[in-house]
Amino acid sequence: MEKEPKRLLYGATPLVFLLLITLLYTQLFASTSLPFNRWMQRLTNWKVTDSTLSEAIKCQESFKPSLRKLLKGEDQSKLEANGFACDLDFYSMVCVASEPFLRIDTTRMTVEMLLNQTCPQDKPVRIKPYARQDSSVILKDTTPVEIMQQNISSLAACEYNHTVPAVIFSSSGFRGNMFHEFNEVIIPLYITSRHFESNVQLILSDYNPLFVSRYAQILSHLSGYQVMNPATNGSIHCFPGGAVVGLKFHDFLSINISSSINPGGYSMLDFKKFLQDSYNLKETQVSTKKPKLLLISRVKSRAFLNEEEMVNMMEELGFDIVIARPKQMSNLTEFSQLVSSCSVMVGAHGAGLTNELFLPVGAVVVQVVPLGLEWASAVYFGEPAGAMGVHYLEYRIQPEESSLIDTYGRSDEVIADPESVFAKSFEAGRAVYITGQNLKINVSRFRETLVQARLLVGNDS
Ligand SMILES: *[C@@H]1O[C@H](CO)[C@@H](O)[C@H](O)[C@H]1NC(C)=O
Ligand SMILES: *[C@@H]1O[C@H](CO)[C@@H](O)[C@H](O)[C@H]1NC(C)=O
Ligand SMILES: *[C@@H]1O[C@H](CO)[C@@H](O)[C@H](O)[C@H]1NC(C)=O
Ligand SMILES: *[C@@H]1O[C@H](CO)[C@@H](O)[C@H](O)[C@H]1NC(C)=O
Ligand SMILES: *[C@@H]1O[C@H](CO)[C@@H](O)[C@H](O)[C@H]1NC(C)=O
Ligand SMILES: *[C@@H]1O[C@H](CO)[C@@H](O)[C@H](O)[C@H]1NC(C)=O
Ligand SMILES: *[C@@H]1O[C@H](CO)[C@@H](O)[C@H](O)[C@H]1NC(C)=O
Repeated sequence: MEKEPKRLLYGATPLVFLLLITLLYTQLFASTSLPFNRWMQRLTNWKVTDSTLSEAIKCQESFKPSLRKLLKGEDQSKLEANGFACDLDFYSMVCVASEPFLRIDTTRMTVEMLLNQTCPQDKPVRIKPYARQDSSVILKDTTPVEIMQQNISSLAACEYNHTVPAVIFSSSGFRGNMFHEFNEVIIPLYITSRHFESNVQLILSDYNPLFVSRYAQILSHLSGYQVMNPATNGSIHCFPGGAVVGLKFHDFLSINISSSINPGGYSMLDFKKFLQDSYNLKETQVSTKKPKLLLISRVKSRAFLNEEEMVNMMEELGFDIVIARPKQMSNLTEFSQLVSSCSVMVGAHGAGLTNELFLPVGAVVVQVVPLGLEWASAVYFGEPAGAMGVHYLEYRIQPEESSLIDTYGRSDEVIADPESVFAKSFEAGRAVYITGQNLKINVSRFRETLVQARLLVGNDS
């Protein structure tokens, strides 16, 4: 253990020291009990005024309860003792730091805390703040953030003083894919930051302007401050309120209300309500008028080759059809309005189905499941639907409805045993089933699924 000889320099005798602390306590903190002396002991060779320190401690203390909620029991005790703790699970890593002297150097992407001489950190903690910790391939372009202890004399002066905590995250995993953006960034960001009630500074490392403009409404409802771009704001930012690095992930497109880490205690329906508020969506319940059916039309892969025939069948069933092409879907402000006015959404497995988040309560999502994609279909879009208040129906195609049968023939292992193809490598499976497959739907068979959908949304017209 290292000694702390400087502590004794503070007062000539322990008695004077005690008197001074008592005075400071009674004068500055009559009504509160802040750990002022604990910090004063560590600041003997550093110029800091009493009022600055008391402000910083007040800020730290006021946000600590919210930060604690991002950790489990024993890690909460660690945070209490050391001002720092992390939670790690299969997909996400979230580190929390709380200290009046905390600063973030946005040039180096470091979170700096005071050196603890009793227990110096042996090396910085390094995090890539993206909720796919399971895959180093996905994280390869994610800039790491380091959390380190600094000698008090090496702590740089604050260029900006912030009065709220920071949440540092990255959006670098799968750019431009709506499913991955909601799954790995937006929903985890909601879980991690919503309970600060906008009193939080978001710092987007690997800043992507397209991401920020695409999700502007959501980001501005999560934080009262503009999202910070470290690349254009390389400074020493002081955050006496603390910092969070990384986002908490629960499950695919899901919030688990009974998870041990759910700081706001939110459910998926709360998230849906949040989206409705953010995008100003008026229609929150499924309409009782002639049901509108949204058909997600894909072009590059998993495209419906007989879309017109499908549309005719749907019209016969009494649906009002809206066809959404990829271009139309890119502006969420506009597209979320359209989705929220629909009773049924139909699409082949793919990112477009993420729009189920914007469907009104009571609506139906119909997923057309291509060959080989049963698992991803169920896990990414099927299982999460119920908690969003929407019904889920699945239409699994038969080999005859896949374009793969023309390419490979009926008896090929591609048709008979997709698992064996994925077993060779994910890339091999991907090339065949995800990017290499189109769909020619057997309309008379598919009709049965849509009759069910029609029944679920009511038969009033
Ligand atoms: C320093 O580390 C020790 C051991 O973990 C801990 O008990 C103590 O509270 C820490 N001090 C501060 C000021 O964080
Ligand atoms: C802290 O900084 C001082 C001055 O730069 C240096 O002499 C000392 O060794 C440092 N202590 C540690 C533990 O890094
Ligand atoms: C930030 O606060 C520190 C005290 O902690 C003060 O010395 C400094 O001048 C402040 N900086 C700015 C830019 O307000
Ligand atoms: C950098 O961040 C500070 C604090 O949030 C802000 O006031 C300033 O405008 C930012 N500068 C740039 C260039 O974005
Ligand atoms: C939600 O979290 C709890 C507690 O960790 C766990 O027992 C439960 O299985 C989870 N529920 C779902 C649907 O994953
Ligand atoms: C999306 O559309 C809205 C309304 O038409 C428009 O104001 C906004 O600028 C568009 N957003 C983007 C990112 O293009
Ligand atoms: C379409 O599906 C029906 C069963 O619903 C079946 O009888 C028919 O043979 C199928 N048509 C083709 C072309 O496969």
